[in-house]
Order: sequence, then C-alpha cells, then structure tokens
Amino acid sequence: MYGVGAMGSIIARMLTERGAEIVGAVGRSTIGKPLSEVTGIPNVTVTIEGDIEEVVQRTRPDLVVMTTASYMEDVKEGVLACLKHGANVISLAEENLYSWHTSPEDTAEIDAVAKEHGVTYTCSGHQDGYWVQLVATLMGTAHHIDEVRGRASWNVEDFGPELARDQQVGDTLEEFAEWLRGAERPPTFGRPTLHAVAAASGLTVVESSTATEPVLATEDTYCKALEMTVPAGKVLGFTDIDTVRTAEGPVLVLEMTGKVYVEGQADSNAWELKGEPDLDLENQVLPTHLTTCATLVNRVPQVLNAEPGYVSVAELPPLRFQPGNIADHLTAR
Ligand SMILES: NC(=O)c1ccc[n+]([C@@H]2O[C@H](COP(=O)([O-])OP(=O)(O)OC[C@H]3O[C@@H](n4cnc5c(N)ncnc54)[C@H](OP(=O)(O)O)[C@@H]3O)[C@@H](O)[C@H]2O)c1
Repeated sequence: MYGVGAMGSIIARMLTERGAEIVGAVGRSTIGKPLSEVTGIPNVTVTIEGDIEEVVQRTRPDLVVMTTASYMEDVKEGVLACLKHGANVISLAEENLYSWHTSPEDTAEIDAVAKEHGVTYTCSGHQDGYWVQLVATLMGTAHHIDEVRGRASWNVEDFGPELARDQQVGDTLEEFAEWLRGAERPPTFGRPTLHAVAAASGLTVVESSTATEPVLATEDTYCKALEMTVPAGKVLGFTDIDTVRTAEGPVLVLEMTGKVYVEGQADSNAWELKGEPDLDLENQVLPTHLTTCATLVNRVPQVLNAEPGYVSVAELPPLRFQPGNIADHLTAR
C-alpha cells in the first residue's frame, strides 16, 4: 500500500477481504505507525515506512496500490521506482486514467519501463466505472452518435478548506475572472476521462478544450469548510466543461461542477447521447468513496493478467465484479 489515507485504508480492507496479503505500507506523516492502527483493519502486522523503493525491493509485492496524488508530475517517480523493481502498479491518479494526450512523454516512459520489467501500470477508480465503462456501453447501443454529454458534480463541503479555496468559494465575479485569467491549472479530471471514453470506443481525438464557468450563489449560503456565509451573487464553486472532438465525428463533453451544495443537492452522474437513437443514463445514488475503491479492487486480477506496459482501462476487459479471492481470477502471465 503506497499512500494510506482515506482511499488507501478502504482499499486495504477490501483487498484483505479478497484474500490479498499486505506485505508493506508506505506513508508520509504516519511513518512508524502500525498499518492496523491507521486503517482500522485487524490482522495486518505491517508497520508504515517511508521509502517506497526500499520497501518494494525488500518485500517484492505482486502489486503496489498507489493512492498518494492525482497528477502525472506527482506520481511518476514513485510509479517508476515500483515498476523497475518488478512490481505492477495500480493507482487512483486521475490524470493517469488516460494520460497519452496530457503527458505523452511521461506516459511513454512509464510504458517502456513497464514493458522492460514485464509489469503493468493502470489507473482506475470512480471514473473507470461511471464515466468510462457505463458511457462506452451506452455508446455501444447507438447506431450513430453526434454528441455525448456528461454532467457530474461534487460537494466542496466533503473536503477541507484548501479545496474550498481552490474552488474560489466566496470570490466576487471579478475576482473569479481575474483568477481564471492568471491560473496555471493542471489538466482537469474530465479531459483524461473523455480521452479514455474515446479510446474505449475506437475514436481518434483531434482536439481537446476546456472552458470554466463560475457557479454563483442565488441566496446567502453557508460554507462549512471555510466557516463563512457566501452572499448571494458570489462564487459557490465552478464548472469545468471539457470538450473532445474526434476524427470520426462524435463530440464528447463532460461538465464537472465542484461547489458548495445547498439543501437538497447531491452528487450526480448523468449522461445524454444525441444520435440514433437519443439515449441517456443517470445514477441517483453515488457513494463515490466506496465505488472508487471497489472498482480498483475488481480491476486487480485484470491488471495482473494483462500484457506488460501502461495499460489504460480502455484496453482492459470490461469492468466486472470479481467474486471471492483475487487469486482465483489469475491466469499465468
Ligand atoms: N480516481 C478516483 O476515482 C479517485 C477517487 C478518490 C480519490 N482519488 C485521488 O486519490 C488520491 C488519494 O485520495 P484520498 O482521499 O485517499 O486522499 P488522502 O486521504 O489525503 O490520502 C492520501 C495519502 O497519501 C499519502 N501520501 C501523499 N504523498 C505521499 C508520498 N509521497 N509518500 C507517501 N505517502 C504519501 C498521504 O500522507 P499524509 O497524510 O501523511 O500526507 C495520505 O495519507 C488523491 O489524489 C485523490 O484525488 C481518486
């Protein structure tokens, strides 16, 4: 386990319930603590350490589960250290869901190192199931597609004050516009998602763009994360609108909103397909922290069985429930 925070702790529990043995754990502020104390899982005897390369070299794991960060620039070094010592890696790093367009050189380097050492690197998580697999399946039931448009949202209040400030909560419209003009932002999570949908559907990406729009409070709204009331007319968060055009015609769009919810609002995932025929799908219930972790765990046998390299979820077999022990689903690679 590389990164033992909110997601890592749930994944560690799910993995042990599927017969996996945890042979090592790497953290940052939790170094020296028993993994059982940090995760709440009984019967694991591992102590959290600090040097991923040393731990992988010594414990020789089949797989490293990496839940430390979101972007290529933050995970690349750690991923390479694991691959070089013959460990497969699966992560939740959102950019790596499909990073061939956003970080092509780094992705090619990871691909080459993984192939050289006969192992795989894959990113899975909530996007895999709800934004790629479900959507690609919906597209598979259409004869002709003009546009596929997703709308997803998350509540700023589910996270800490840092993220609330990142979402510009409390800004005036002028302050928001000023921030947007000067902002150097990493790739949105929507962009690699749409690239994965395109890859899963045999579509060739020719252009990707992102527009960002503020969401304004229509009434005075309390923000718990910042312990302040956002007056009507000020910013509650924003929506990133990613658009991907393809050589074959279908346009893929994902509108992702992160904002302070008002009463009655909940996380959502809704997709509309315009074509022959028009289609849609929507999820009313989304316990994202659990779907994220369960999806990753169900991918484990597939990534251990896959041919070596950077293997995106677009290339893996369809996402399926993997009952019982992970070991029962392994084939010789
Ligand atoms: N793909 C998806 O569906 C999905 C879903 C949820 C989350 N995520 C992503 O997964 C990541 C983890 O999410 P989370 O909710 O579990 O966050 P979290 O609770 O903050 O956990 C991250 C853990 O990683 C540790 N860490 C960070 N950098 C490290 C390093 N260099 N070496 C060792 N440990 C390190 C942190 O240690 P300290 O606390 O000691 O700093 C922390 O325990 C985030 O990037 C998040 O955006 C993806």
